[in-house]
Amino acid sequence: MRIDIISCVPQLMESPLSHSILKRAQEKGLLEIHIHDLRDFAEGKHRQVDDYPFGGGAGMILKIEPVAKCIRTLSAQRSYDEIIFMTPDGDVFDQPMANRLSLSGNLIIFAGHYKGLDQRARDLFFTMEISIGDYVLSGGELPALVLTDAIGRLIPGVLGDEASALTDSFQDQLLDAPVYTRPSDFEGQTVPEVLLSGHQAKIEEWREEMAFQKTKQKRPDLLD
Ligand code: ADE
Repeated sequence: MRIDIISCVPQLMESPLSHSILKRAQEKGLLEIHIHDLRDFAEGKHRQVDDYPFGGGAGMILKIEPVAKCIRTLSAQRSYDEIIFMTPDGDVFDQPMANRLSLSGNLIIFAGHYKGLDQRARDLFFTMEISIGDYVLSGGELPALVLTDAIGRLIPGVLGDEASALTDSFQDQLLDAPVYTRPSDFEGQTVPEVLLSGHQAKIEEWREEMAFQKTKQKRPDLLD
């Protein structure tokens, strides 16, 4: 899979992509991530990507021309399954959306900044608008990374243990059962007996029941 991320603050995104699972995914050749600086597509000495809003009001607005130039340049080189704008007024991201996007070949993720993006750019160039939750961040860079991580780890071969992405919380609309590791007794706090029993069928049964109980208690909405 190839993901092209467009941002006017690309430096914000370097570190999370160069460590751990996303780093390994790239090293294994399973995921290619290209970061583009929106300013490289802006005109003039100051390579201006934003301007004042027509009609007045607070904050600066991202201009349509650099966005058009960047997306058109990329789209001329390959076709994209989705061209995604990260915005707090988009569709709220969830695991089914991550699953679906992980089947893509090529994706563009555009991280907005400032007060917003000219509506004409939103209408003309994007196939999806995604929010990572009902709160406002100072830019779309962290949301773009959240999307990249959630999608990237689902690509077959990226996680060492193939099963582990499938047993994540939310994959079956249930939260994960609690997990434990050594020691089996910490200051009198012991691990549930069944996990030490070696009886795999009983362990699975216990995990399913705990996942159900935990979901019922913490996220009953998932059971509806
Ligand atoms: N940009 C700012 N806040 C955001 C959010 N919650 N989701 C996606 N993009 C954003």
